[in-house]
Amino acid sequence: MSDAAVTIDGGGMADYAVSLYRSPDEVEAAEIQPLLRVERLHQLAVELTTSCNLTCVYCHFAPLDRRGNDLSSDLVQQVIDFVTSFPVDVITIGGDSEITMYKGWEEVAARLLDHGCKLRAISNFTNGIFTPAQVDAFSRFTEILISLDTPDAELLKKTRYRADLRTMTFNLQQIRAKCIEDGRPQPKLVCNAVVHDRNFGHLDRLAAFPMANGFNCLSLQRLVGLEEVQGGKNDFFDNPNAIPLYPPATLDESGRLGGLQAFQRMLDLCRERLELIINPALVEDIERLLQECDTNGRDAG
Ligand SMILES: C[S@@+](CC[C@H](N)C(=O)[O-])C[C@H]1O[C@@H](n2cnc3c(N)ncnc32)[C@H](O)[C@@H]1O
Ligand code: SF4
Repeated sequence: MSDAAVTIDGGGMADYAVSLYRSPDEVEAAEIQPLLRVERLHQLAVELTTSCNLTCVYCHFAPLDRRGNDLSSDLVQQVIDFVTSFPVDVITIGGDSEITMYKGWEEVAARLLDHGCKLRAISNFTNGIFTPAQVDAFSRFTEILISLDTPDAELLKKTRYRADLRTMTFNLQQIRAKCIEDGRPQPKLVCNAVVHDRNFGHLDRLAAFPMANGFNCLSLQRLVGLEEVQGGKNDFFDNPNAIPLYPPATLDESGRLGGLQAFQRMLDLCRERLELIINPALVEDIERLLQECDTNGRDAG
């Protein structure tokens, strides 16, 4: 595990794995060379802090012993100097942590915005009620991904331990109101949800919630297992109040069938109303469940 980091990206999504889970010795020079020759950066990812306010049961990226490191003010200044002298399409403020834990994140964001930078963030939006300065900064972002796996407040609290749906929705609506007040278009609001055995059966309700709250997009992710994350660590499993989460494939037959029906209703709800992005690996998992249900149905018939 490493300190807070800055990663660069000349092509697609920033490769967090380069900066966080491998030491510089392990990173092949060949991986870095093309990035050093680009004429502009598609994305610069800045992880201001390694701290997080939550202990989500399924998160293998932010264990307690990784937390507590902040980007120094010198490095923040270097980032600002860099983006004022080199073309960068978008700066993502985020990482395997919670950006709102960095004291003064809104001032860093405001300085970048004042330089004309396009900002993107990923946040759980539950680190207390945002101050007016924080609301103002977020209202000027280009895109914000907000993590929300369920509209069920109790389930959320026990899976993303301590997360509060009321705080999240209030913060979100404050930002939307600020955009209306200032006559600005709202940032693209993406609701990011990990699909697991506990929310598979209410995916339709999960889609209705971001629609009702003014999101532009729902992005569904596959639940990544600890064994799949190189250098990953999870010290939240032992929390006696937490509910462990498993992939939908672990459900019994009626649970799978109920989930697939909810999935179909979700597709119907989203049509022409909400952009829907489904992680390709999750699509494969769901197709497999559909095939199994078909086969079982035929065998029974
Ligand atoms: C690591 S968090 C960092 C940003 C911020 N703390 C948040 O939760 O939005 C980024 C995203 O990873 C997702 N995530 C965490 N653990 C995961 C897992 N095991 N499989 C898939 N996505 C996961 C979270 O739900 C969140 O949407
Ligand atoms: S998924 Fe949860 S524990 Fe992991 S970084 Fe985001 S809020 Fe923190």
